[in-house]
Formats: sequence, structure tokens, C-alpha cells
Amino acid sequence: MRDFHPDDDFASPEEYSPESSPDDFDPGLPNQLLDFVLRSEPAEVVDTDLFAVMKKRRSTRKFSDKPVETVKIDKIIAAADTAPTAGNFQGFEIFYVKSPEKKRLLVDACNFQSCVDAPIVLVFCKNPSRVKFNFPPYVLRKFAIQDATLAAGYSQLAAQALGLSSIWIGMFDEQKVMDILQTDLVPSSLLCIGYPKQSKFPKPRRNLKDLVNVVW
Ligand SMILES: Cc1cc2nc3c(=O)[nH]c(=O)nc-3n(C[C@H](O)[C@H](O)[C@H](O)COP(=O)(O)O)c2cc1C
Repeated sequence: MRDFHPDDDFASPEEYSPESSPDDFDPGLPNQLLDFVLRSEPAEVVDTDLFAVMKKRRSTRKFSDKPVETVKIDKIIAAADTAPTAGNFQGFEIFYVKSPEKKRLLVDACNFQSCVDAPIVLVFCKNPSRVKFNFPPYVLRKFAIQDATLAAGYSQLAAQALGLSSIWIGMFDEQKVMDILQTDLVPSSLLCIGYPKQSKFPKPRRNLKDLVNVVW
């Protein structure tokens, strides 16, 4: 692969639009599109038992070639939008990377992790400038990283509920990812999603007794 230069002539990010929208769609109504996408039928049965979804989720680094239905991608993105955010200022943005070339570049930017070249690649970025509290910048950055992380977590669970698998990528070179996305926003995580090549059992966790510190 040839070297990547930040000023390469890539197409700039464009507006996202879900597969379908309400007949009476009004961009002035904030939740209309979100509610429509959340209500819309997925392509196959969804596991609606939240705790079963949590129990079964397992990181997947090998994806099958089966394409992910657009309605599922819409729902995964919508799920992120339902997450709580500091002051409801929604201090994060999602970059939905469709370009195969950019996905390959992201593999390099993520410490050469080949799983990043996945059917669906979402990059969650912090946007502290949206957080309009009168607090010092470091607090706004702290809120933005929490907003972006929580949103990615919601998307990850939604993907599982839709019969998909995912891998959370936290090991990346921030500047390289920003150059590829052509953004000033700092990424907090990548979520790579697809149908798993094979299903696996959940990994062991420590005993709940060792997890919790009870404070009186
Ligand atoms: C903050 C964070 C960073 C992670 N970074 C990576 C990563 O860069 N590459 C990777 O393959 N997995 C990464 N993971 C996935 C973890 O390795 C995985 O969640 C963990 O081993 C537990 O497995 P499970 O998700 O199947 O329960 C990351 C997970 C988190 C929460």
C-alpha cells in the first residue's frame, strides 16, 4: 500500500441519511428521525432481552463477508444517539467510514490491527465544543470523552441485539486517525462491526464479590 499523506485528495465527510425516513419528515423536529429509526423493523429478529444481550456479547475480530443490512446500521447509529450525555449537549460525533481505502489506512493507524477493516467501521470522536457548560476546558474534555465512550457502548450493545458482533478498538494513533478522517476532533474509540465468522462463549470475569467495594 502506498504511503498516506494527510492532504490526500479524499472526499470530505458527507451527511448521513438512514435508509428510510418518515413521509412527513421535518428536520426541525429533533427526535422524529431518531424515533422512526428506532421503531423501524430490523431485517431479522432482534434479541430484546437486554440482559441476554449483555451476557452473550463477545468481542469478535473475524467477520464474515455477509453484508450488514442498512436498517441495522441505522439502528446502531440511532442507539448511540439515545445515550445520556453531559447536560444533553451531546459532546461527540460519529464518523461512519465507508471508503475501503480509508478502512485499510485505519488498520495502520490502529497499530496494524487487521480487524479494523471490518464491514462496518464507526469512529467515535469527542467534541467538547458542543458542551456549553461554563466549566474549565479540561472538564468539558472529560465530559466529551464520557459522552463518546458511552455512545459507543450503546452502539455495541445494539449491534449485539441485532445479531451482529463487534470489536472495540482503543489502540490507535489519534493523529493518524484524525488525518484519515480529515477532522480536528479527537477519536475516543473505534467500533468495528459485522457478522461473526464464528460465535464464541463469553470471556470469564472476576467474581462479582471482587468487583464491588461496598461503602458505608
Ligand atoms: C477501552 C478498550 C480498548 C480496547 N482496545 C482494543 C484494541 O485496540 N484491540 C482489540 O483487539 N481489542 C480491544 N478491546 C477489546 C477487549 O480486548 C475486550 O473487550 C476484552 O478482551 C474482553 O473481551 P469481551 O469483549 O469479549 O468480553 C478494547 C476494549 C476496551 C473496553
